[in-house]
Amino acid sequence: MDVIQEIKIAASILAADLCRLGEQVAAAEAGGADYIHFDVMDGCFVPNLTIGPLVVEAVRRATSLPIDVHLMIEAPERYVQDFVQAGAGNLTVHVEACAHLHRTIEQIKELGIRAGVTLNPATSLVTLEEILPYVDMVLVMTVNPGFGGQSFIESMCAKVERLRAMGQEQHLAGPNGLAFDIEVDGGINVHTAERVVRAGANVLVAGSAIFRRSGHGSAADAFASAGEIADATRRLRQAALGQKTPAC
Ligand code: DX5
Ligand code: ZN
Repeated sequence: MDVIQEIKIAASILAADLCRLGEQVAAAEAGGADYIHFDVMDGCFVPNLTIGPLVVEAVRRATSLPIDVHLMIEAPERYVQDFVQAGAGNLTVHVEACAHLHRTIEQIKELGIRAGVTLNPATSLVTLEEILPYVDMVLVMTVNPGFGGQSFIESMCAKVERLRAMGQEQHLAGPNGLAFDIEVDGGINVHTAERVVRAGANVLVAGSAIFRRSGHGSAADAFASAGEIADATRRLRQAALGQKTPAC
């Protein structure tokens, strides 16, 4: 890796207490989160259903942070405009779910926000070869999408390294390194954060590691308090930067 891009933390509200969403988002912001990450699932592309533009709009009013929307839906072009109007700052679509990827990426950028592509763990980087010069961000899934709380897939570190090399081979340079961000999503915590950064990722999505307490049985107990959310966000950044963190 030639230049270390600024590390950004994206707090995924999939793991948050949705009854207290505004408060939980504010806590992540207080802990230094850079993005609020939204997981939009349609029960078709992934076997789960979550939230839509209405919730993005509500959170938009509760935070000044940019909203990073991860669309896990078939034919995502149908909803691009709705999410932009709701206040998304980044929009990523899965290459596996998008028949006309170039058109969809252009559609997102024409609406004035950042456009990204997402790859499932088993999807080859070859699928990015033609689209890479057009995107602002590549999201490398480090679990199979659909659920929070899954284990990090170790082999995705090598994929991130190969993606960074691919950007360099295509001469896609930006002011701080590559012209596109490399985001990772799934199983990111204080143990995996440093490894993905070393591999070349610079945007780290984390849900459970920020919004859940570890080792708690019942669902109600499992949600972290505002103070714990802020602390966990800080610890994650320190871990990503390779700094020692107190045991948690
Ligand atoms: C999974 C989602 C993730 C999820 C990550 O499909 O894309 O954003 O929230 O959850 P954790 O951090 O718990 O693995
Ligand atoms: Zn996500």
